[in-house]
Amino acid sequence: MARPNTGREQWSSKIGFILAAAGSAIGLGNIWKFPYIAGENGGASFIFVYLICIAVIGLPVLIAEILIGRSTQRNPVGAFRKLSGSKFWIGVGGMGVVSGFLILSFYAVIAGWAIGYIVEAVAGNFAHYDTGASAALHFQSLVTNIPWDVGYFTLFMIITMLFVFLGIRKGIERGSKIMMPILLVLLIVLMIRGITLDGSEKGIEFLLHPDWSKINAQAILIALGHAFFTLSLGMGAMLTYGSYMSKKDSIPSAALQIIILDTVIALIAGVAIFTSVFAVGLDPAAGPGLIFHTIPAVFAKMPGGYFFSILFFILLSIAALTSAISLLEVVVAYFVDELGWKRKKAVLILGFVVFLLGLPSALSFNVLSDFTLFGKNFFDLVDFFASNILLPLGGLLIAIFVGYVWGFSKVLASLREGAENLFDDYPYIISTWKFFLKYLSPVLIFIVLLRSLGILDLIF
Ligand code: TRP
Repeated sequence: MARPNTGREQWSSKIGFILAAAGSAIGLGNIWKFPYIAGENGGASFIFVYLICIAVIGLPVLIAEILIGRSTQRNPVGAFRKLSGSKFWIGVGGMGVVSGFLILSFYAVIAGWAIGYIVEAVAGNFAHYDTGASAALHFQSLVTNIPWDVGYFTLFMIITMLFVFLGIRKGIERGSKIMMPILLVLLIVLMIRGITLDGSEKGIEFLLHPDWSKINAQAILIALGHAFFTLSLGMGAMLTYGSYMSKKDSIPSAALQIIILDTVIALIAGVAIFTSVFAVGLDPAAGPGLIFHTIPAVFAKMPGGYFFSILFFILLSIAALTSAISLLEVVVAYFVDELGWKRKKAVLILGFVVFLLGLPSALSFNVLSDFTLFGKNFFDLVDFFASNILLPLGGLLIAIFVGYVWGFSKVLASLREGAENLFDDYPYIISTWKFFLKYLSPVLIFIVLLRSLGILDLIF
């Protein structure tokens, strides 16, 4: 049923919200990061630990973020201003907006490469690079070509801006309703291609073989950090999307569905990628190297690789795009709610600011590659600061705010809206959430933060 659209925009349906939020969660992290860390850190054993992390910090903090947004119907800064009024908490919201600028500025650089690789795939260029080393050289020649590197970054920013420009219903929701099903279908096609290749069992073995000896403190911290990153937590993206949610819809059920989608997609991506990589006899690599060095060589060797390579890079671009849209929306919502800007003006100006901020990241792979600080180039610095410091810090403070500062009777009254059945029929689910949010999540996120800061290394 269509809902009236009075004043501030709202999602037209619950599924619209779920797909948009899942679009934010499902991104580069699901496609290149999760499969690799799972394979490296004990396969099925790691996945088991990861699922526990998702349950003890992912779900509780996701619910908390959406709840702050829906209760206040504001961007992160406005939300904390409305609920607390204290400068400190408003600053926490501001930190989220800053994180949005920073993350988008480097995320869009990699996403731009993904679009550029669709063009490479269509041109049939991968066929010439059938070893990991030659594909890596191909990658190198592209990213050191400034018009290519900056050009696709710019193109990606323009596409992201277009969706946010059109608004919540016509841009973000409609886009997510079209792109998310396409993403799922592409992934399933690629997974079927992967498992039907000869020798694909070795990939399944790499990804799923349980190895409990690899589950040490390090692996658990990786799982915790990733649970957090993959759900786009800690900077108010889910808060902002939650601010367009109706009070008639249940937050716990929406959050659970978002998490299931995110996890299922990460697992399918893992199967699709590693069955293919191992079937053609290549070694899996970590991070961007897996996607831009190994995968093109995989397609060069695989039957039908021309066709599947196009699908793969379309998939990667869609995954990145729906995440980037949510990042830009956080920033735009702040300027619209707090400073009274018109959405369209905000998108044009802020999109341009993100572009300027992203330029040094894009140039970190060519002209600025020698500029380093603490051994990191500009791109790595922004990535590290935003993803490893600002996000856990923001998530920690959000958990503390909802657990201790807001007032728990108000929290429960607000969460109850749209979830009356859950409260009446399964009260223990609500008390479990409360326990996780107040006691487990803050402690675990704090440990993740200490690890990022290198403090754990000093102790152990
Ligand atoms: N979840 C995204 C991914 O898996 C990355 C991400 C982290 C993100 N924080 C975010 C995306 C905030 C949007 C908003 O790739």
